[in-house]
Amino acid sequence: KNEISIGLLGFGTVGSGVATILQQHQKDLRHKLGVEVSIKKVLIKNKNKDRLASLEPEVFTTDIEEILNDPSLDIIVEVMGGMDEAKEAIEKALAAGKQVVTANKDVMAEHGHELLKLADEKKCDLFYEASVAGGIPIIRTLEDGLASDRISSLMGIVNGTTNFILTKMKQENMSYEDALAEATALGYAEADPSSDVDGLDAARKMVILSSLAYSTEVHLDDVLIRGMKEIRDGDLELAQGFGYTMKMVGSSTKDEDGIEVAVEPIFLPDSHPLSSVNNEFNAVYIYGDAVGETMLYGPGAGSLPTATSVVSDVIAACRNILLEVNGKRVHAAQYERMIKPEDS
Ligand code: HSE
Repeated sequence: KNEISIGLLGFGTVGSGVATILQQHQKDLRHKLGVEVSIKKVLIKNKNKDRLASLEPEVFTTDIEEILNDPSLDIIVEVMGGMDEAKEAIEKALAAGKQVVTANKDVMAEHGHELLKLADEKKCDLFYEASVAGGIPIIRTLEDGLASDRISSLMGIVNGTTNFILTKMKQENMSYEDALAEATALGYAEADPSSDVDGLDAARKMVILSSLAYSTEVHLDDVLIRGMKEIRDGDLELAQGFGYTMKMVGSSTKDEDGIEVAVEPIFLPDSHPLSSVNNEFNAVYIYGDAVGETMLYGPGAGSLPTATSVVSDVIAACRNILLEVNGKRVHAAQYERMIKPEDS
């Protein structure tokens, strides 16, 4: 095989970033993989919008079936967002034996376990590094980097939009509405930003992280969610007056009583490292019995940072294809499912 072909579902903030990175890093990718990696089809909503000059106009289609039924595509990259259509597309791609890369935290938080099982059955891989904390390689860290440790808790800022809003309100005295409008213009907010500000987006990410950290199935219903509405007028000033910073924080702990996951606005002392995580940046603390405390920090939203994680997953998928080991990059959670009978 001397070329790997990609079908890209979605050409918004993340999708266009994926095309840009694949184009700008083309030589490096060829060097790393020894083959050409190219986008052969792109699903868009509207054919009349301006498109990336480097992609031929004929790659664009508004027909998802044209992409999902194309046997020449090796990897399907789902960056269209949303729930039902995206989930169905991932299922169809896996059923057809394709490698799938997704950035979709909504789908992974609510259907990740079943989709990963489907991927196992079909001997395919489903990669989802970009679903949590944009450009931070947190999924790989939990699956591989800290696989030897027993993780007892996680704590972090995992929504870029709310962190951006809180930073602008604190540092520039910006109104909530203006800060949200700017976060939307910069491509950080969800299509429906209520999932950012109400805490649902962060809760979904905490579900994904907690499932990986504790090698179990954590569900969205188990998460206590308190959104930005819980912040009252004057809270930010009050915090500042006492040397505190208000942050939307996701936390997750595991002890003998079980697993607790929450997303809520909390007052952090200014000296706490999370207090200085500003704008769209994210940070996640991981506490492990052996490693102690580890913190990962980086851009949590935005086109190129999120696309970096997507393209890294594409590289992982390419390696599997080239080594003919589809489905054999066994993720920690996948391994557990393979060795444990269904009803154990
Ligand atoms: N709306 C999300 C955020 C995008 O603000 O964090 C990245 O997942």
